[in-house]
Amino acid sequence: MSSSPTERGEWSSKIGFILAAAGSAIGLGNIWRFPYTAGENGGAAFLFLYLLCILFIGLPVMIAELSIGRRTRKDPVGAFDAIKPKSPWRLIGFMGVFTGLAILAYYCVIAGVTVGYIAKTVSYNTTSFSEYTANPLMTIPLLLLFVVLTVLVVQGGVRNGIERWAKILMPLLLILMVVLIIRSVTLEGASRGLSFYLKPDFSKITGKTFLAALGQAFFSLSLGMGAMITYGSYLSKKDNIVTSGIFVSFFDTLIAVMAGLLIFPALFFAGVSPDAGPGLVFEVLPVIFAKLPGGTLIGASFFLLLSVAALTSTISLLEVVTAYLVDEKHILRKRAVWFVAAVAFLFGIPSALSFGAVEWLSDLPLVGMSFFGFMDWLFGNVMLAVGAVFISIFFGWVWKRVKSTTEIEEGCPGYSAWAPVILFLLRFFCPIAIAIVLFFKFKDLIAG
Ligand code: PFF
Repeated sequence: MSSSPTERGEWSSKIGFILAAAGSAIGLGNIWRFPYTAGENGGAAFLFLYLLCILFIGLPVMIAELSIGRRTRKDPVGAFDAIKPKSPWRLIGFMGVFTGLAILAYYCVIAGVTVGYIAKTVSYNTTSFSEYTANPLMTIPLLLLFVVLTVLVVQGGVRNGIERWAKILMPLLLILMVVLIIRSVTLEGASRGLSFYLKPDFSKITGKTFLAALGQAFFSLSLGMGAMITYGSYLSKKDNIVTSGIFVSFFDTLIAVMAGLLIFPALFFAGVSPDAGPGLVFEVLPVIFAKLPGGTLIGASFFLLLSVAALTSTISLLEVVTAYLVDEKHILRKRAVWFVAAVAFLFGIPSALSFGAVEWLSDLPLVGMSFFGFMDWLFGNVMLAVGAVFISIFFGWVWKRVKSTTEIEEGCPGYSAWAPVILFLLRFFCPIAIAIVLFFKFKDLIAG
């Protein structure tokens, strides 16, 4: 893509787009967030619900976002405006942009810690995750570092920046994960972990499990805030929206499922509890590395590749907010990028301090969680789900059926035969299912 503020570029190739979209989707959400969320929500039963959410809700919403983006060639706010001019729908786009900024802020905290773990591994530093993250002299500079790294890549534009990185490094991550899984499942006690992760106990499913699974599906697929609208806006009419969406969702899910296979067997070996929370992966992985010849090098490489996976995700978060400022506010791309980054850094500081550095931020009064946990719950779960309800309704009821079908059919001949299924899901199933989950969540919240 050109970095000029007025011209909109396109992906240089089909595979370029797929890898970039997969790069947005695959990140800390799969390897850090998925295992601990599954661990906190009953393991296999959560996995089962998660897979259902991806298939029946995530995939249709992905197709909706990509087609809205490609049709309008706009950022999320401009996209709603282009299809339904001067309507309150632009507020949904705006909500997405704000959600993107909020996620970027706290996401960079964990991404920074991942970078820090590269150095921690090579220097044989054995500090625990909680001690490590309680140190503001660690978390804040690492947050800053990650924000700046993201800016540097985004400034290069889509083609030079995002595509080039994604093409080389994502496949490497996959290979390294396979190696680590082989070690993990052959550890003593691995079978207990595997049955926790793969043998569902449906009595463990509660209302909370549903929102966690749904929120995780949106977070992991980068849905509900317009990231896929923005990425879709750089797609060409020749590209196949449906197969691209399936491909991205498949790989994203594959990596998450693999992350579970990596963590759960080792977890029982390491004696860490499945509900250990955000520190889970950081506590368990070093145990696997220690069991491998050349473990230090493998560990450092893993955290390096995980940092890159996080970077291809933060790039997309920054890109959403930047595209909005460039398209709607006509701010120069370079200025917009630095401005958003500065806001994200400042907004990220309270999260960076909420791992024990500042007591009240670490245990917020009334909400009973840390500032970081609260941001992740509010923006990473609830707001993405709310955004997805509206995107489904917009696609299903506001955008004319013939228009959406014609749009998707370009590049995907034969789509019209499937259109009724996708339309049914987006008109009825997705909005109703998500709304019910959100309703019960709030009922629980108010009751409890
Ligand atoms: N999907 C990313 C992950 O799993 O790490 C996080 C993310 C990126 C969420 C972009 C939302 C988004 F728009």
